Amino acid sequence: MKFDAPAGKTIVDDPTVIGKSTRRIDGPRKTTGTAPYAYERHDVVSGQAYGYIVGSAIARGRITAMNLDAARKAPGVIAVIAATETEPVGTSPFNTAPLFGGRDIAHYHQAIACVVAETFEQARAAAALIRTTYDRDAGDYDLAKVKDGAKIAPGWSVPEDIQRNGNFAEAYAAAPVQLDQTYTTPDEAHAMMEPFATIAAWEGDKLTLWTSNQMINWSKRALASILKMPAENIRLDSPFIGGGFGGKLFIRADAVLAALGAKAAGRPVKIAMQRPLMFNNATHRPATIQRVRIGTDADGRILAMGHECWSGNLPGGSAENGAAQTRALYSGPDNLTVSYISRLDLPEGNAMRAPGEAVGHLALEVAMDELAEKLGLDPIEFRLRNEPERMPGDPSKRFSGRHLVECLREGADRFGWSARQSRPASVRDGRWLVGMGVAAGYRGAPITKSAARVSLDNAGRVRVETDMTDIGTGSYTIIAQTAAECIGVPLDQVRVDLGDSRSPVSSGSGGQWGAASSTAGVYAACVELRRMVAEKFGMNADTARFEGGRVVDGKTRRRLAEAGPLSAEGQMDYGDFQNDYDMGTYAGHFAEVGVDAYTGEVRIRRMLAVCDAGRILNPLSARSQVIGAMVMSAGSALMEDLVVDKRFGFFVNHDLAGYEVPVHADIPHQEVVFLDTLDDVISPLKAKGVGELGICGPGAAIANAVYNATGVRVRDYPITLDKLI
Ligand code: MOS
Repeated sequence: MKFDAPAGKTIVDDPTVIGKSTRRIDGPRKTTGTAPYAYERHDVVSGQAYGYIVGSAIARGRITAMNLDAARKAPGVIAVIAATETEPVGTSPFNTAPLFGGRDIAHYHQAIACVVAETFEQARAAAALIRTTYDRDAGDYDLAKVKDGAKIAPGWSVPEDIQRNGNFAEAYAAAPVQLDQTYTTPDEAHAMMEPFATIAAWEGDKLTLWTSNQMINWSKRALASILKMPAENIRLDSPFIGGGFGGKLFIRADAVLAALGAKAAGRPVKIAMQRPLMFNNATHRPATIQRVRIGTDADGRILAMGHECWSGNLPGGSAENGAAQTRALYSGPDNLTVSYISRLDLPEGNAMRAPGEAVGHLALEVAMDELAEKLGLDPIEFRLRNEPERMPGDPSKRFSGRHLVECLREGADRFGWSARQSRPASVRDGRWLVGMGVAAGYRGAPITKSAARVSLDNAGRVRVETDMTDIGTGSYTIIAQTAAECIGVPLDQVRVDLGDSRSPVSSGSGGQWGAASSTAGVYAACVELRRMVAEKFGMNADTARFEGGRVVDGKTRRRLAEAGPLSAEGQMDYGDFQNDYDMGTYAGHFAEVGVDAYTGEVRIRRMLAVCDAGRILNPLSARSQVIGAMVMSAGSALMEDLVVDKRFGFFVNHDLAGYEVPVHADIPHQEVVFLDTLDDVISPLKAKGVGELGICGPGAAIANAVYNATGVRVRDYPITLDKLI
């Protein structure tokens, strides 16, 4: 069905299941260890052998020779495939450097061989016997050095990358109050718990991959192009995923090498990418250099807003679009928001949770804090004075729903913002310097077509099938809630099957579009099923009510089960009317920190997020999403840092010991509040995603709190103690 005007009346306007905090229906399977993750699927196919990937030891150049003899003779080895004996595999719209094959090396730890053996240990031992020699070329590994030759870049998630309204340079030069600061953010790793993992099996020319992937349909198409085979001969199955954060939006070497390894071995092959390879073989969030210039009048009204963001990538790779939120957040007639890209020979940069905005806020929202201080304004008041009527970056667009002012006001009340001392370093608690910080949050709310099949059996049970994924986000549960609501059955009468490419094509999980898009697809299928049920009962589908396992139309009342078995497919598509709107989600983020006056150690004391994201389908799992994102944002403010070896071009700290992420003890108290809003432009469910909103702003609130605590402004992330002393 087509959603081509703002939602009026819908079949879910007075929800009793949607919008209620609901425990995950997949929770018992996860907590009892019975949810099958890719590497654990011992039962799906027999005779599984183990693959082990070898990564390149240089960042750029070519392989001169590989000696594979010892590996091939090693105990238990079934097959060895090597880059020197394989043509480069194809590429796809979703990756740049070939994932395997050929002598040319594009980045460090690019896969150059795969050993298949009877056991994991045998594969690993044999892999260590491969001897490779290289011709190493010089490469560019330092963003600061290549930045000046940068080109204007196309964006990853924002179609038009460059936007200039009016005349920024003149308006900025004429502004009575100015701020011009530069901020840097480092490369970051997704560091998800479950590594890339795949079991591959061939049956003739048909390939099945049990894998861990966020975007089943993209990845099926990508594999077809990488392996140069028809997409219809490929099946992907990814029902449970142990975290992705954008790293699993795309097919990676585990899937390609499991497929090639299985072909070479004549047996199914399973590969879990070893942790030390995860950081350089796969994608990461690219480092940025961001210059923010804001000019205001004496009262703090923005006259000119400039945000430029530089990042680097392999040839063909996209930019980290750090200026994305700046188009939406604050009024101001003269804007300049641009992302620039340079060639870097580091591993491929790509989407990581809220690509663009996550790092963009770390610059913009600190610049806003700096300027508020310059103006002598409270940072919340400064933001309130610049609340726009229409999208500043594209005034032809209205906001589909925007309640940023309420987020900030409600957050200030709940957080006790009035107790904040505007003079930095003025609150002391024993050895701790204490400060508070605030930041606004914006993340786009993209929505995309999504399909599902909904079936009813003759016991009145409902089954939903779609290739949607659950990356730990709660998709199973919100989809079950949607079907239960639409068909009028209890939640425990709904079964949900996800992640199989044989099911109707969904939005997949990415860009925080998954929740809104996939449930809208289920809604469309349910509307079709209701129509079929009504027809069977001779009722009017528009007036029939589906509730409590019954269908009621006027005086007629039937048990839903009597209509089964029935099966309906539906897809939600979107009309052009949405182009008139900027669809976004908003938050007010607050943080209180203590900084040790003697050591510079930063301790978060409290965090609060007040979120505006339309109808919240499941407040319990949405809260978990936002909390997880706030933790990740705290990591990017204070800890996370892929350290680049600028001589040899790789990330040095490529394991979870050296790549620091926050743990429970780092985050003592977090609170999440959802405003009760509906967005009738986005879909009939009037709901938007929140999974990425939560990482847009908290890090800046922490940085601003550190400044408020100490009077030291650190503009190079992460804010580690050495930078405070
Ligand atoms: Mo998200 S970075 O699109 O998984």
